[in-house]
Amino acid sequence: MILITGGAGYIGSHCALALLNRNEKIVIIDNLDNGHIETINALKNIGNVEFIKGDLKNKKDIEFIFKNFDIDTLMHFAGYIQVEESTQNPSKYYENNIIGTINLLNTMVEYNVKKIIFSSTCAIYGEPEYLPIDENHPKNPLNPYGKTKLIIEEMLDDYDKAYDIKSVRLRYFNVAGADCSAGIGEWHQPETHLIPNILKSVFEKEKIFNIFGNDYDTFDGTCIRDYVNVEDLACAHVLALEYLKKENKTECINIGTSQGNSVKEIFDTVKLISGKNIPVEFKPRRAGDAAKLIADTKKARKILNWEPAHSLHDSIKSAYLWEKSKLARLNFDV
Ligand SMILES: NC(=O)c1ccc[n+]([C@@H]2O[C@H](COP(=O)([O-])OP(=O)(O)OC[C@H]3O[C@@H](n4cnc5c(N)ncnc54)[C@H](O)[C@@H]3O)[C@@H](O)[C@H]2O)c1
Repeated sequence: MILITGGAGYIGSHCALALLNRNEKIVIIDNLDNGHIETINALKNIGNVEFIKGDLKNKKDIEFIFKNFDIDTLMHFAGYIQVEESTQNPSKYYENNIIGTINLLNTMVEYNVKKIIFSSTCAIYGEPEYLPIDENHPKNPLNPYGKTKLIIEEMLDDYDKAYDIKSVRLRYFNVAGADCSAGIGEWHQPETHLIPNILKSVFEKEKIFNIFGNDYDTFDGTCIRDYVNVEDLACAHVLALEYLKKENKTECINIGTSQGNSVKEIFDTVKLISGKNIPVEFKPRRAGDAAKLIADTKKARKILNWEPAHSLHDSIKSAYLWEKSKLARLNFDV
């Protein structure tokens, strides 16, 4: 059985869905700090999901699951994810992300569970020294959020050496899209990601969308990021699981598309898909925003045999449909 931490959240729920579609047995732990019970209910409509409302900071919550379910593998998504908040309140991030993971790993040791897939991030690389960014790029995270992820990767190395726990750390670039047919999608509060924030300006009357910086060294002056579709990302998790089972080897693997899109391009695509004129204002650059972040994904293609199947247009279209259906359910006038 697979234990999914943070499965009531955005990416964890899409990976849970991919596992349900393969008839895997899953149990989810989530404290619902940032996840949603509606997401768990949507998953329960699709397959057999065990859900435990629990907190990784309480080791007893984790032990309860290991005692009651036959766990053989973990997918670890749970954590706080807001970069800006992490700079203002680092203790919240170190406490939750690090202590939660220590509790998880120590319980794995106690119950002799040896396989874990971990949600890492391109934020561990910091300001790019070259592009595209491969897995050997120097690691200099610029904020406590990114630092917690790098510390966890280092912990995973130590737990591998000492206790033979094998991990695949998937370093996601920017994740986008939704599986709205399943009733799940991106639902962060507050929302700090680009596409759902542009969509807020589509659906909330007269909400101006701010573009931070239009004087970067890029073809249109706005920042460039690598957007990977969430269903493609879920597929990478399934392949990572197979890899761990077959090869039993620890790996770090970038998950992106090797393509970059500018903020302006994303904005224009949302405008096209929604058919709405979105009010926009250009603001000064934000501290810590690199001009370009693009993944080198050769390793994912070689080791996992993974290829992104969805286009950026697919991701934005599904995000749009998800946002619309979510607001309709929450009784907003859309
Ligand atoms: N969204 C992205 O673009 C992106 C990019 C790179 C990496 N990641 C990583 O992917 C993972 C999932 O991201 P997401 O966008 O789905 O975030 P999310 O906030 O939607 O999901 C995280 C889930 O973890 C739960 N959680 C947090 N702390 C917990 C704790 N102590 N105990 C139990 N549950 C807890 C939250 O309630 C939430 O449901 C995170 O680890 C994040 O760092 C995300």
